[in-house]
Amino acid sequence: MNLETLNKQFELPGKLQLTVSDSGIPVVEINTPVSSAAISIQGAQLVSWTPVDEEPVIWLSPSAILGPNKAIRGGIPICWPWFGPHESDGRLPSHGYARTALWDVVEIVELEDEQVRVSFRLDKRSVPTEIMTFDCEVELSISVGSILTLDLRTTNSNSNPITISEALHSYFNVGDVRNVEVSGLDGCSYLDKVDAGRIKEQLGAVLFSQETDRVYIDTVSECIISDPVLQRKIHINKQGSLSTVVWNPWSEKAAQMADMGENDYLHMLCVETANVANNSLTLNPGESHEMSVSYSVSRVA
Ligand code: BG6
Repeated sequence: MNLETLNKQFELPGKLQLTVSDSGIPVVEINTPVSSAAISIQGAQLVSWTPVDEEPVIWLSPSAILGPNKAIRGGIPICWPWFGPHESDGRLPSHGYARTALWDVVEIVELEDEQVRVSFRLDKRSVPTEIMTFDCEVELSISVGSILTLDLRTTNSNSNPITISEALHSYFNVGDVRNVEVSGLDGCSYLDKVDAGRIKEQLGAVLFSQETDRVYIDTVSECIISDPVLQRKIHINKQGSLSTVVWNPWSEKAAQMADMGENDYLHMLCVETANVANNSLTLNPGESHEMSVSYSVSRVA
């Protein structure tokens, strides 16, 4: 789908613009009186969201590489239909293929309260057959306003049951991760990926002083990122999701990544809405599942 077709199809109002990044990736830009956002059509990946009078809420690596079939470091990558390494075939790409696939834009509409909703469907033709593990329909809608909402819907179009894992891998912009705390996970069990996958229990808020890579299981509560440097709280409310992944690579891991600068890890934190590990989903033929999340910001003195 090219930009001209999209522009014609959706008669885009003045608030929207379709642009092409230097690397040829089409991006939908949204500017309303309440917020601005940009979404890459490759991966249906939101790459920025900034409510009016706020610092950006979503972090995009200053060294992110945008290019065909490249995963973009930052924003909200869609990990689907598996999270992390594929469980039986190490040759398959980490976090599945949705984040590098092309998606079709199926609808762009203005809603009340200055919200704009962009709906996508994964274009299966853009996925190489050797990595497409089964046939499945997946749709994503992103509603941009003073609140940001993502809704990921999977429908099993096979004649057999399928099992998937998934994550909305949100990267948040924080003042200094060493001062941040994440509440909402107290008492939850987590799989500690930096300690041989040991199962541990969270006591109190999550604090950051080293590499952190945790899969919290059976989590339903709101998570709040409290950020004293940017003087705000980011609220994460989810539905249809039983896992929360918390990740910061810290300095040593970040240094091994081509798309992260030296001190960038201090300014980002992933708190991901997910269904992974024990919370992976099995869908019967014809069955659908929806996982959604809303992000909002409140100021603290
Ligand atoms: C997190 C995982 O969700 O994503 C980490 O828990 C992983 O283990 C990280 O390193 C980044 O993954 P990638 O494939 O985008 O480098």
